[in-house]
Amino acid sequence: RMSSLPRVAACLAAALTLTATATAAPRTLAQIQAAGTLRLATEGAFPPFNFYQQKALVGFEVDLGNALGKALNLKVEWVVQPFDGLLIGLNQGRYDAVMASHAITPERQKAVDFLNPHYCSTVNIVAKKGGPLTRAALAGKTVGTQIGTAQIPILQAIPNIGGVKTFPNDPAVLTALQSGRVDAWSSNGPVVAYMLKQTGQQKNILIGETISNERNAGAVARNNTALRAALNTTLARLMNDGTYLKISQQWFGQDIRCK
Ligand code: ARG
Repeated sequence: RMSSLPRVAACLAAALTLTATATAAPRTLAQIQAAGTLRLATEGAFPPFNFYQQKALVGFEVDLGNALGKALNLKVEWVVQPFDGLLIGLNQGRYDAVMASHAITPERQKAVDFLNPHYCSTVNIVAKKGGPLTRAALAGKTVGTQIGTAQIPILQAIPNIGGVKTFPNDPAVLTALQSGRVDAWSSNGPVVAYMLKQTGQQKNILIGETISNERNAGAVARNNTALRAALNTTLARLMNDGTYLKISQQWFGQDIRCK
């Protein structure tokens, strides 16, 4: 039987190996082209942008990501993981780009390089009928929102707000709102609208005040310049040749690109 010291050493070696494989350098465009596969990461719980229908990953960003890959002659491989770790994995080379409705913010720009926005949207306050639907009405009330999102500091800055509770994803916040564990919910307007319609609750849960206007974009690792340029050029092409419009119409019945 192994004595404890070699055992510790073996564990350490295993841990180091794991770390080493998990943090490779982000792939360059040339490496991606040589491999023939583009690795895109998303969350999978943000309908209708990225979510699951039965067992299939679907949504506006999934269609758009697949269209980007197709136009670049690359096979797209989707990596799905919780939202709050998505940007960190980019610089660790776990995947090539992220498409998960991130708002372009100065804070995030220090960590990653954003693509041009693939849509614009609002962030809203949401509550049951009779509940707090404005910033002013949130005094002394609690609001739930997804962990890692851009709206957290905005919500925390609302005067006299009772508290900001974070949840792993938006479906969990909706459940908390329904059961009264939070007084309000904050998320992107199109996501709330879709989820309320999907669950038949547009009558009892209402979309209130806009607390921010976002430019939502994909991202690549810091200084992954050639990949970023190729994705931006291709996105512009899809926005000009009708591909983007078709996908946008399909999910929203309208063109959601930034005006
Ligand atoms: N737009 C918000 C942000 O930038 C929320 C994005 C959440 N995305 C997701 N796939 N759950 O933080």
